Amino acid sequence: MRGKHILLIVGGGIAAYKACELVRLIRKAGGEVTCVLTEGGQQFVTAMTLAALSENKVYTSLFDLKDEVEMGHIQLSRAADLVVVCPATADLMAKMAAGIADDLATTLLLATDKKVLAAPAMNVRMWQHEATKRNVALLRRDSVTVLEPDEGEMACGEYGPGRLPEPEVILEAIKVSLVPTNGRLAWKHVIVTAGPTHEPIDPVRVIANRSSGKQGFAIAEALATLGAKVTLVAGPVSLATPAGADRIDVETAREMEAAVSAALPADAAVLVAAVADWRVDPAPIKLKKGDGPPTLSWGPNPDILAGLAKSASRPRLLIGFAAETENVVETASAKRVRKGCDWIVANDVSGDVMGGDSNTVHLITGEGTESWERAPKEEVARRLAARIADELGG
Ligand code: CTP
Repeated sequence: MRGKHILLIVGGGIAAYKACELVRLIRKAGGEVTCVLTEGGQQFVTAMTLAALSENKVYTSLFDLKDEVEMGHIQLSRAADLVVVCPATADLMAKMAAGIADDLATTLLLATDKKVLAAPAMNVRMWQHEATKRNVALLRRDSVTVLEPDEGEMACGEYGPGRLPEPEVILEAIKVSLVPTNGRLAWKHVIVTAGPTHEPIDPVRVIANRSSGKQGFAIAEALATLGAKVTLVAGPVSLATPAGADRIDVETAREMEAAVSAALPADAAVLVAAVADWRVDPAPIKLKKGDGPPTLSWGPNPDILAGLAKSASRPRLLIGFAAETENVVETASAKRVRKGCDWIVANDVSGDVMGGDSNTVHLITGEGTESWERAPKEEVARRLAARIADELGG
């Protein structure tokens, strides 16, 4: 975000207060923000609040610009790297779709030559109305990025889709929108698996593991930031979908294998998931305590990595992960050869790595081993994504 300038148009909806948080997050990430507050927006937040948070002048009407020779509306709409509409109300999107320019915000939206990202927020019935659906489709056809609203309880007491996505999610989408379409991994497809798998033993119980999914999600995000098309096959985790990634949620190893196969072909695959090696045939009804300790009869799960290595549609670059607790590098090196992948990223999980925020990894390739210093999982992800871009010739 450093050095990037966002023109933030704040529409008139109860969710406008969340735009204040978005301004704070953009500033924290190193970006600059200039806010434009619509008349409706002024009913919910004040220009003073946005000015204080953005440390910039806030514009509210076309007349603000008339006296300012150096800052006409054309210039204001083009000085930014990205125009963000948050909250994008049904009314604002309808005007955008129709090309109506009857106030400062809509005039800027019509005059801009920059990408536009809209974060909708409205009542569920308004979101589901045919007119809004038509407008959203039109905007998307015109290359406006319209985020999907969140689902949940609304300020008006109704329930459904229409809530503004969380400011953190909007920030991620902004970061992705700022990636030039000529990013180093543009036009490359990368599959990432992440998280644990759950193997059911009866209708209510599963065999799970401690994988948090954080490292895999961070890798998916870092790859998307470089412009890759990312398919993220995620086991059961409660993490936000990284902006720019197509997420497929799965539960079991077999579902994960099927989702990976369906996503092929790919230029690269990074299999970070902690896949259960074994599964049981789940009991059709709940196991009862009174029946004594259950005897589970185990069968093997497919090895997704080894299978992919042998498949006819093997990605050009196949990367595995190896979470080990002893002889980390030796064990992982042997695993790389045994599974037939190109690289393996090994980490020592005897400490608090599982679920923690940082990681110490060794990148093992056919050429040798690089040991990276302990770093936040996001940093490890960025470094790995950069290496993948080097390898794929981006
Ligand atoms: N993996 C996979 N499918 C499996 C098991 C593992 O795709 N059924 C992948 C993981 O995503 C990871 C790599 O293989 O990229 C290594 O996983 P790991 O659990 O360390 O390998 P195992 O074969 O289970 O080895 P071991 O249990 O002997 O340590």
